[in-house]
Amino acid sequence: MIKRYLFVLGLSIFTLVAFATVAAAKKPQFLGVMGCKCHKDELDEWTKSPHGNAYKVLLEKERSKAQHKAMRAAGLDFKKDYNKDEKCLPCHTVGFGEPGGYQDEKSAEDLRNVGCEMCHGAGSEYAILHKEKGETFKKAEAAALGEIYPPKEDVCRKCHDHKDSPFNSKTDKKYMFNFEEMIKLNKAWHKKFDLKFKHE
Ligand code: HEC
Ligand code: HEC
Ligand code: HEC
Repeated sequence: MIKRYLFVLGLSIFTLVAFATVAAAKKPQFLGVMGCKCHKDELDEWTKSPHGNAYKVLLEKERSKAQHKAMRAAGLDFKKDYNKDEKCLPCHTVGFGEPGGYQDEKSAEDLRNVGCEMCHGAGSEYAILHKEKGETFKKAEAAALGEIYPPKEDVCRKCHDHKDSPFNSKTDKKYMFNFEEMIKLNKAWHKKFDLKFKHE
């Protein structure tokens, strides 16, 4: 009887400790693009890129004629604003509905568009490491805190040619996503600037 009691007690303590450990490893939160502003070259390039302007296409007054045509073909109303539509926001903002991410129009400006963190991972924990260790942090340490580097095909495919996107290869073959080709079009995100440190 006592033995069984001790066993159950032991099991409960084990479960508690396990829970506490999980709670201690904080889930990274989204910061917004300004959280990455030290990378000035990348930020400047990104601001001018399609990803840096991806929120605009949700607004009627910002759209081009070509985009009107594309929307009609996808069965969308080109005269409508879609920036309150929960179906669109996950791929046109930073971390929609997630901690620190875009919630609604009152959210910080720098949570609009496909920001750095949509490709490089939510930055709150990595940013602390970066601040503490400057350039001397190791890649593995950053990865353990949620940094994604380099972003691979799976990251892009959360949005590109995804079944939830109105603009996938079922709508039109031109939206087919070829990672190798797309990665060459690096103007879509930012040019490559060599890292000064290897972080190895
Ligand atoms: C699953 C992710 C995803 C969702 C959800 C999504 N989009 Fe997009 N959207 C994309 C991607 C990726 C592109 C770029 C496609 C390309 O050019 O290959 C895009 C492009 C666009 C374009 C430009 C199309 C063109 O040909 O120039 C418009 C306009 C647009 N989206 C509006 C919307 C609207 C409105 C909604 C909601 C009804 C929406 N999107 C939902 C991922 C998404
Ligand atoms: C659409 C995805 C995407 C977005 C958005 C994006 N990046 Fe990148 N980033 C990449 C890819 C891909 C690489 C290249 C990885 C490699 O070297 O193969 C990269 C590389 C980098 C590097 C390494 C040095 C370099 O320039 O190659 C830094 C630093 C960086 N990004 C910062 C940023 C910052 C800051 C932002 C936002 C202002 C941002 N990135 C937005 C995809 C993205
Ligand atoms: C969070 C969603 C999201 C992610 C992740 C994402 N994209 Fe995009 N991408 C978009 C949207 C939305 C557009 C359309 C922006 C516009 O038309 O204003 C776009 C546009 C583009 C374009 C320019 C349009 C075209 O079809 O020529 C390229 C190239 C591109 N993305 C490549 C990539 C690559 C490569 C990655 C991964 C490293 C990536 N994207 C990750 C949402 C995303």
